[in-house]
Amino acid sequence: MNAFIIPLCLWCVCGLYVHCQSPPNVVFILADDMGFHDVGYHGSEIKTPVLDRLSAAGVRLENYYVQPLCTPSRNQLLTGRYQIHTGMQHQIIWPCQPYCVPLEEKLLPELMVEAGYSTHMVGKWHLGMYRKECLPTRRGFQSFFGYWTGSEDYYTHMRCSFIAPLNVTRCALDLRDGEETAQMYNKLYSTELFTHQAVNIILNHNIQKPLFLYLALQAVHAPLQVPEHYTEPYSFIKDPPRRHYAGMVSAMDEAVGNITRALQDAGIWNNTILIFSTGPGHASRAEQEMQDSLMKDSLRRNSLRTGSVSAPRFNVSMHAAIRYKNWKLLTGYPGERVGGVADETPPLKQVMLFDIDADPQERNEISHKHPEIVSFLLKRLEQLQEGAQPVNFPPDDPRCDPQPTVAHDHPAQAQKDANQDRKTRSANNFQLQT
Ligand SMILES: *[C@@H]1O[C@H](CO)[C@@H](O)[C@H](O)[C@H]1NC(C)=O
Ligand SMILES: *[C@@H]1O[C@H](CO)[C@@H](O)[C@H](O)[C@H]1NC(C)=O
Ligand SMILES: *[C@@H]1O[C@H](CO)[C@@H](O)[C@H](O)[C@H]1NC(C)=O
Ligand SMILES: *[C@@H]1O[C@H](CO)[C@@H](O)[C@H](O)[C@H]1NC(C)=O
Repeated sequence: MNAFIIPLCLWCVCGLYVHCQSPPNVVFILADDMGFHDVGYHGSEIKTPVLDRLSAAGVRLENYYVQPLCTPSRNQLLTGRYQIHTGMQHQIIWPCQPYCVPLEEKLLPELMVEAGYSTHMVGKWHLGMYRKECLPTRRGFQSFFGYWTGSEDYYTHMRCSFIAPLNVTRCALDLRDGEETAQMYNKLYSTELFTHQAVNIILNHNIQKPLFLYLALQAVHAPLQVPEHYTEPYSFIKDPPRRHYAGMVSAMDEAVGNITRALQDAGIWNNTILIFSTGPGHASRAEQEMQDSLMKDSLRRNSLRTGSVSAPRFNVSMHAAIRYKNWKLLTGYPGERVGGVADETPPLKQVMLFDIDADPQERNEISHKHPEIVSFLLKRLEQLQEGAQPVNFPPDDPRCDPQPTVAHDHPAQAQKDANQDRKTRSANNFQLQT
């Protein structure tokens, strides 16, 4: 994955032999759906001068894993726990599903508040929103500017979603300032908008307190949208989606540059740990179509097999991956078949083993050569599965309905809004449901 840390003042070093005046500021920038090879220093045709330069002066993490989907990956980052321990292992939270990261989990920003930090979040939440208790503002972030669902238009900040029990597709604004719908930002490109918000937080930060800023950029998730000037350097890329994607990565790289400049301007760069990572890796075609969401139902049906079923042996039709030393074992069919899209790849095996030291790209499947390793790792998966929480993946709650013209929100608010003249409402929320 793409990640690096700029440790200008390491905690451990502070604790051991340097007398640090104050704890370091922590700025965590999370990209979305960015591929391993889509960063300059991994040899990409996409130019990322800022990431290249920063990471060259920091620590590059070249061998760690994130989850393949947004919700489980963010769940891990903020709870410090695998998604099998929070019931979030199945898939993502769709706008009308009434669940969130379990409320008994203490999230990273709550711990940072206890450690004396000012905590701020800008960007994508995607850890649930059906009750106020689930919101970032109730789970440790003292300020929030961004969106609660998983994807939306980069300019209008509208999210369209099919609500199965109502058999309708609704589009609604999903941009929030704190807990309020933010209506003033139409046509502002989210990479620039979120960077601007993050820069303001940094410049207005009271340096008496350490800062924790979590900037979860929308970039470079689908849809592939970017102002034209960012794609101009990529006219040599003939495939239009790839060209747009390259432009989005460049905009994101510029965003990281602006954040670091703000940290310098604020005089806190020399006491800041900057971490950059991607949430999930590069989206496959199937994932991108999933994000378009209209095929949601067929997809859900297809992916139910990822659900946990308690069985005496590990059920290899489940998606799982495990590393041990140089070995990596994968189970479950590795692709997603989305309705209507023909899958051109030949059928793959349900259990695959790779020696990733010798074969880092996982091209040479060798389970037949090492049955004892396979059986050892399946046994390990079985043990892990025994400790797993049941999958939490409830059906849509129709009370989320934002109504034809208006944002994804909560019932008390929904009731209040319903009493207002609809025509005076310029934006709808997908509604909070309790
Ligand atoms: C859902 O709505 C579509 C058109 O909007 C209609 O064709 C279809 O029959 C409806 N399905 C059900 C189950 O009501
Ligand atoms: C970075 O800052 C420059 C100068 O303020 C601005 O023009 C540009 O839009 C910013 N880029 C992003 C991605 O926010
Ligand atoms: C950071 O820079 C400021 C101002 O230049 C200085 O007062 C402070 O001691 C520096 N802190 C560290 C940890 O180097
Ligand atoms: C394994 O999981 C699949 C998909 O969920 C299910 O159809 C099958 O019955 C399971 N097999 C066993 C032995 O539990």
